[in-house]
Amino acid sequence: MKVIIAKDHAEASRLGADIIENIVRTKPDCTLGLATGSSPVGMYQELSRRCHEEGLDFSRVHSVNLDEYVGLPGTHDQSYRYFMDDNLFNHINIDKANTYVAKGVGDVEENLREFNAILDQTDIDVQVLGVGPDGHLGFNEPGDVLVDGAHKETLDASTIDANARFFASRDDVPRYAVTMGMGNIMRAKKLLMIVAGNKADAMRALLCTDKLDPHCPCTFMRMHRDAVVILEKSLADAIGYKG
Ligand code: GLP
Repeated sequence: MKVIIAKDHAEASRLGADIIENIVRTKPDCTLGLATGSSPVGMYQELSRRCHEEGLDFSRVHSVNLDEYVGLPGTHDQSYRYFMDDNLFNHINIDKANTYVAKGVGDVEENLREFNAILDQTDIDVQVLGVGPDGHLGFNEPGDVLVDGAHKETLDASTIDANARFFASRDDVPRYAVTMGMGNIMRAKKLLMIVAGNKADAMRALLCTDKLDPHCPCTFMRMHRDAVVILEKSLADAIGYKG
């Protein structure tokens, strides 16, 4: 696993955008695995800028997203479909017909069948990841076992707390989500994690131990042959990680 220490979030976003740009330029019909949360927003802004100002071309790119809240339609401003349109797809020349975010409403089992069928047919060239304060990837919450394929998760109280900032009140945060499983994530050709915010516990488990701990799902990134983690110097210093 390659760890890059950036001087600040802006630099982390630029370095992440460099990795995505390189993949899009060398394989214009690549598939990007994308993530929501605040961590990748700066990188998405930088990619949007490069699309407008430097001709970075997304016209043949496909994408599939990590997860979606159960109960929120794509028109809801906290749904992950809305987030992706608002933070990236509306600002680049991607064909939205080539973007997939799992459905949050309707029959959950049916939605999961569709999500798994799409994942089974898709080779993800790079999977963008944030990380939850509890170490979750996508919405794969800590537990005694982790799940291979796309499935429904019950959100942990700490995840509901962490994501409450985006909703009018904590009660409005959905209790369930559908998410790629850990196997789907690990089968991506490359993993790119951008770390921002209060993630000291998760980063200590990932970077300062050699454990593969299902109670901190991000530790499984260490098993991947081509994983990149970009974190800010202040966080590296806070956990005593020297590289
Ligand atoms: C949500 C998403 C995760 C994301 C996490 C961290 O829980 N499902 O994929 O990594 O938020 O969000 P943030 O980047 O805002 O800290």
